[in-house]
Amino acid sequence: MIDQFGRNINYFRISVTDQCNLRCIYCMPDKGIDFLQEEKLLSFDEIYRIVKIGASLGISKVRITGGEPLTREGLPKLIQKIKTLPQIEEVCLTTNGILLEKYIDELIKAGLDRVNISLDTLQHERYKQMTRGGNIEEVIRGIKLSLDGGIKRVRLNIVIIKEENDDEIMDFVELAEKNPIDIRFIELMPIGEGKQFKSVSNDEVKEIIMKERELIPYIAKNKSLGPAAYFKTPNSKGMVGFISPMSHIFCSQCNRMRLTSEGFLRQCLHWKDGIDLRKMMRDGMEDKQLKKIIAKGVYKKPNEHGFKKDCIDEDSKRMFQIGG
Ligand code: 5AD
Ligand code: SF4
Repeated sequence: MIDQFGRNINYFRISVTDQCNLRCIYCMPDKGIDFLQEEKLLSFDEIYRIVKIGASLGISKVRITGGEPLTREGLPKLIQKIKTLPQIEEVCLTTNGILLEKYIDELIKAGLDRVNISLDTLQHERYKQMTRGGNIEEVIRGIKLSLDGGIKRVRLNIVIIKEENDDEIMDFVELAEKNPIDIRFIELMPIGEGKQFKSVSNDEVKEIIMKERELIPYIAKNKSLGPAAYFKTPNSKGMVGFISPMSHIFCSQCNRMRLTSEGFLRQCLHWKDGIDLRKMMRDGMEDKQLKKIIAKGVYKKPNEHGFKKDCIDEDSKRMFQIGG
């Protein structure tokens, strides 16, 4: 699907729940979150239906996210079903890794291709503090089992925050050097709880790394790497990537659409409108009409996110609600 700005949209990011088993300080408040009631969530059949229509329109890659997607019961079944669609080349999962050790076998059997794990610190105590109670050992076991189980690529997503974990940048780089794990530094976005913390720009992160290592640009053979710019340090096994939504707007290369757990098709992470596909499906709309609406929604994908333009209102959704 080509949108109005000539971008080839082939990627769906699907949030399957807004719930999470952690409470990362920059993402969720400790208490008082209104989670969606079960009947408001898209059912797996509804999600599958949208993916199937998307696939007929040129979607070839699907990412499952949340909240924490593994808190939604039966997730491997959804993955397995999506994998039966011939147009879908890749199904990936973004998770905090806590439940990976429990589900990795089922996920691999279901055909999961890649796993991205959000991990902002490598320190036991700090992990507990930053996630408000998480146990990092569970995540580490999950990562090891994913690698052992033959997941093609394991990536860590790291949000660096001033005075929280900015002293661990080189520890992460060393982890990628010694293991076949890619790491990606993601700039903190001023959404929800994120507004209360000081971000570190990826230029600063790079500078810190370059004091100690050479960063050799990695030129992707295919374009599936998304908006990250990747590098390798000499002799490293994994790559070091930078996703810089704040300092380097990459919207011109954006290839994705998002489906929120409530069933809104969103053209951009940071755009308040969405298309209420849940309502349309539950009102009995047929596939043909849905397909038209999705195609039109894709075509109209906005040019750029509006973080710097104040295009969102205060009560617009947070990351765990839209899909991280
Ligand atoms: N800025 C950047 N990333 C965020 N995430 C949550 N909140 C923010 C934010 N304000 C990320 C997490 C995780 C995913 C669920 O979303 O780090 O990778
Ligand atoms: Fe949960 Fe991810 Fe948000 Fe942490 S960042 S609270 S793991 S959704």
